[in-house]
Amino acid sequence: MKKASCIVNKNFKIADIDERIYGSFIEHMGRAVYTGIYQPDHETADEQGFRQDVIDAVKELNVPIVRYPGGNFVSGYDWTDGIGPRQSRPKRLDYAWFSIETNQFGINEFAQWAKKANTQGMIAVNLGTGTAQQAGYLVEYCNIEKGTYWSDKRREHGFLEPHKFKVWCLGNEMDGPWQTCGLSAQDYAKKARETAKILKWVDPDIELVACGSSSKEMETFPSWDRTVLEACYPYVDYISLHRYYEFEGNQADFLAAFYDLDDFIQTIKATADYVKAALRSDKTMMLSLDEWNVWYIQNMQTQRWQWAAPIAEDVYSLMDALVVGGLLTSIVNNCDRVKMACIAQLVNALAPIHTASDGGVLKHSTYYPFAQVSRYGRGSAYKTILQSESVETGKYGKVPSLATACTFDEKTQQLALFVLNTNLQDDVQLSLQLQEFGPLKLIEQQTLAGDDLFAVNSFETPDNVVPKNCDITERSGTQFELTLGKASWTMALFRKLH
Ligand code: AHR
Repeated sequence: MKKASCIVNKNFKIADIDERIYGSFIEHMGRAVYTGIYQPDHETADEQGFRQDVIDAVKELNVPIVRYPGGNFVSGYDWTDGIGPRQSRPKRLDYAWFSIETNQFGINEFAQWAKKANTQGMIAVNLGTGTAQQAGYLVEYCNIEKGTYWSDKRREHGFLEPHKFKVWCLGNEMDGPWQTCGLSAQDYAKKARETAKILKWVDPDIELVACGSSSKEMETFPSWDRTVLEACYPYVDYISLHRYYEFEGNQADFLAAFYDLDDFIQTIKATADYVKAALRSDKTMMLSLDEWNVWYIQNMQTQRWQWAAPIAEDVYSLMDALVVGGLLTSIVNNCDRVKMACIAQLVNALAPIHTASDGGVLKHSTYYPFAQVSRYGRGSAYKTILQSESVETGKYGKVPSLATACTFDEKTQQLALFVLNTNLQDDVQLSLQLQEFGPLKLIEQQTLAGDDLFAVNSFETPDNVVPKNCDITERSGTQFELTLGKASWTMALFRKLH
């Protein structure tokens, strides 16, 4: 067994956590909306057609913000197709996923669903085929109370109160050649800036997210981010980052995804800070990691021009869940700059929640680490000073074998420690010292591990990959010994004793 130590001191706080780092994403993609969150003929559907079994699973996952309606979808979407009487809404071709979009679910249905799911919306506007003017009309429709053409239209449609969406994304992945009407950095920067001006004129209380690089592999990374920020810095509040990982044959590389995500975040932070200095600005740009996850993009197939055909319904393994846990530690550890993050996505399309259109809900393995961190990783994040051996990876060289994050919530007086052990052969004895938090009592300890890293959950075996209780030894009120199984994810929850 290997040995490692972790010291966390209450004087070394990273930052308060913005709960929106535990966000998610619903796109009009495959079965995310239709037969995912919305299925009027389902036995659990409520009077608005929302699946109650899905709402229950989403509530349990605790996602304080959900991005909508895309994603690639938004770049060809006319939001006016999805409002007004359902029988007169048009059926359209969706160029992003080669699907048929019936528009039976639109912005008002999303607002209703979000309320029921205890979450708020992060709304993306179309900067592909769409114009700055159309984006302005959407903010007017959603956020202005009454007395203008679009706000009165919303009232006519039965929504007397404005939806008051706070966060708006200026397009999606506009650096991608796959995007409907993608743009060069200069063209996007100008379009985003002019749209930002209109949106904030319409509602000065909103927050805006400019599109950053859609991955580290983009040829334009990170100059795209610099160009966009140089043009938009005073007008926007966040720059976005997107990052997906998939297992390509090397387990050590895959489990080290947390290390790569951290590097991506550091580069975007540095780029934003360069622009801040160049512009002599005293505003610090925050980051919105509004798409991240494991995604088996290589396996993806789309059937042309079908409605609600399954797309990217990845079945996640134990190894995928470990990677998701590791990525969450990077997000928490960067919470001084990452103020929003969305696991992409929420239901059916590359998602922790899977539905059967003629049956129930299945929680994939990735549901569990996300639910734990989203539930207990609240309050403030603290630096974890770690001493552990490194592992050799093919892609990143030597990488720490453990990924850790620690949070303490003054409200609940709970401290949570999250640890990924990426050692494939060895258990690790971790000695944990929690300094200056006062005496603590261990109240919950759970681990996700197993001999088969490819094990998955299914409707027949839904509990194949779920967290189990594990042993943690208390040495004193502030010192504990954790035995971390090889290739495992562990959560230890403590409560401060008064
Ligand atoms: O989340 C799936 C897709 O991934 C989104 O539509 C797009 O923004 C990204 O490429």
